[in-house]
Amino acid sequence: YDEGEATSRAPVVSVMGHVDHGKTSLLDYIRRAKVAAGESGGITQHIGAYHVETDRGMVTFLDTPGHAAFTAMRARGAQSTDIVILVVAADDGVMPQTKEAVQHARAAGVPLVVAVNKMDKEDADPDRVKNELSALEVIPEDWGGDTQFVPVSALTGDGIDALLEAILLQAELLELKAVADAPAKGVVVESSLEKGRGSVSTMLVQNGTLKLGDMVVAGQYYGKVRAMLDEARKTVKTAGPSIPVEVLGLNGTPDAGDEFLAVADERKARELAEFRQVREREQRLQRQQA
Ligand code: GTP
Ligand code: NA
Ligand code: MG
Repeated sequence: YDEGEATSRAPVVSVMGHVDHGKTSLLDYIRRAKVAAGESGGITQHIGAYHVETDRGMVTFLDTPGHAAFTAMRARGAQSTDIVILVVAADDGVMPQTKEAVQHARAAGVPLVVAVNKMDKEDADPDRVKNELSALEVIPEDWGGDTQFVPVSALTGDGIDALLEAILLQAELLELKAVADAPAKGVVVESSLEKGRGSVSTMLVQNGTLKLGDMVVAGQYYGKVRAMLDEARKTVKTAGPSIPVEVLGLNGTPDAGDEFLAVADERKARELAEFRQVREREQRLQRQQA
């Protein structure tokens, strides 16, 4: 296959931080939709993927849960992104999952932009946030470090333009590129079985273009892309680099974080999926014996 030329692609940005510090609300404001209000108990339990157009180009956001139970999900979130927005509530300061997010970003080698949120609150104390993060060696630019701290309020929208600016600036430094004209590959953001729809997987294309009818292998499963929808549930026929899409048609539900790729035909797909199933069984056996 003759691959095309690498061209610039949108940044993939993970929103991370302690539970209830305002990650979903922030994204919500950016998207001007109402996601946080629609969640059960206001607690995010999965990774949502959205892309938004700004004046200076597209940004893809991954929302991640802050609840302590979702460590593995956050680790995978950090691994599939270019930039982490660390959301810290100015009235609460650095909390256990704030620290954990810093560690995940560091482990994945991903730069951080800090959103000091809830600045509208009377007891907001942004200097405390700066102090506490400095103790973790996340030093603000105005204190001689290299991390952008942006005071924001997801409630009023104050500072959100500046936050987008900071992200786009960081993204420009990274000079992100991908080849659009190539078989798709990327990462599974989440996957589940839905009544009447079968296996539904949110996939983030990292390179190439995913097309309706493509044969894909995702983790240990495979199938023909039977339908593809964007985050507004609108049918799409193609998805290029940095675009998240919902994919129907796999013969199972891959794990979040699994890699996916488009392959030439069904035989190839089955072989690769079966190889991975065998490998997974062997690894499980080894773990049991250890
Ligand atoms: P998890 O996904 O469960 O970790 O939470 P989250 O970080 O996504 O927080 P979420 O957006 O659900 O917000 C938690 C609560 O904080 C909600 O009641 C929001 O309305 C409130 N909140 C979020 N941002 C702000 C803000 O800037 N100001 C104020 N006053 N409240 C906010
Ligand atoms: Na919440
Ligand atoms: Mg949330």
